[in-house]
Amino acid sequence: MNIAQVRREYTKTKLSKKNVEPNPIDQFNVWLKDAIDSNCMEPTAMIVSSVSIQNKPSSRTVLLKAVEHGQFVFFSNYNSRKGVQINQNPNVSLLFYWPELERQINIEGQAHQISTERSDAYFNTRPWKSRIGAIISPQSQPIESRNVIKKSFIIEAAKHITDSIPRPSHWGGYEISPTRIEFWQGRANRLHDRILFDKNSEGFWEISRLAP
Ligand SMILES: Cc1cc2nc3c(=O)[nH]c(=O)nc-3n(C[C@H](O)[C@H](O)[C@H](O)COP(=O)(O)O)c2cc1C
Repeated sequence: MNIAQVRREYTKTKLSKKNVEPNPIDQFNVWLKDAIDSNCMEPTAMIVSSVSIQNKPSSRTVLLKAVEHGQFVFFSNYNSRKGVQINQNPNVSLLFYWPELERQINIEGQAHQISTERSDAYFNTRPWKSRIGAIISPQSQPIESRNVIKKSFIIEAAKHITDSIPRPSHWGGYEISPTRIEFWQGRANRLHDRILFDKNSEGFWEISRLAP
């Protein structure tokens, strides 16, 4: 297998300063809608990268659950590896890749926990079994076997047959305030289009084109 020969040309469409929305959040919403309408697999999936206190980066996929007040929201376990890192260093990057559309969006910003009210509101919309899972999973911790989790699930589920399930305090949302958003559209001959929005010190978005 010669993986060096695995390549494809990107020819679907183009991107220029003239055909993007003046506000990158609006442009993000246009591309997200395109991804959903085009039946991209997991259109809301994004890779979140965080950095440890030893300056070591780590990445994982999560699902974007909202774009509110110009901020990107996802939910997780606050004690997970990412949770610990974000607590120590709020700088994160988010990466969306929609291969079907030959598009990528790269976002950098700072992550902070959302209010308990907002976390409660989303938690209560989750399927019953997902809520039980959020309570019992010590996400990112080593466990002896899958059985350990299965047992905890059954025991916890039995406690909530009749009552509502309160959100555990170790689980909730993060919102990312973006300072840099780059839109990438694949083009022929690797001469891709890259349009960058950078937030300046006065809080205004500055737009530029980057070399492919
Ligand atoms: C498509 C997909 C969606 C996922 N969505 C989430 C999510 O929304 N929240 C979450 O905590 N983990 C999600 N995960 C699991 C994470 O990738 C990761 O395994 C988990 O959050 C633990 O990461 P950490 O140990 O780096 O903190 C998802 C994984 C995949 C592949």
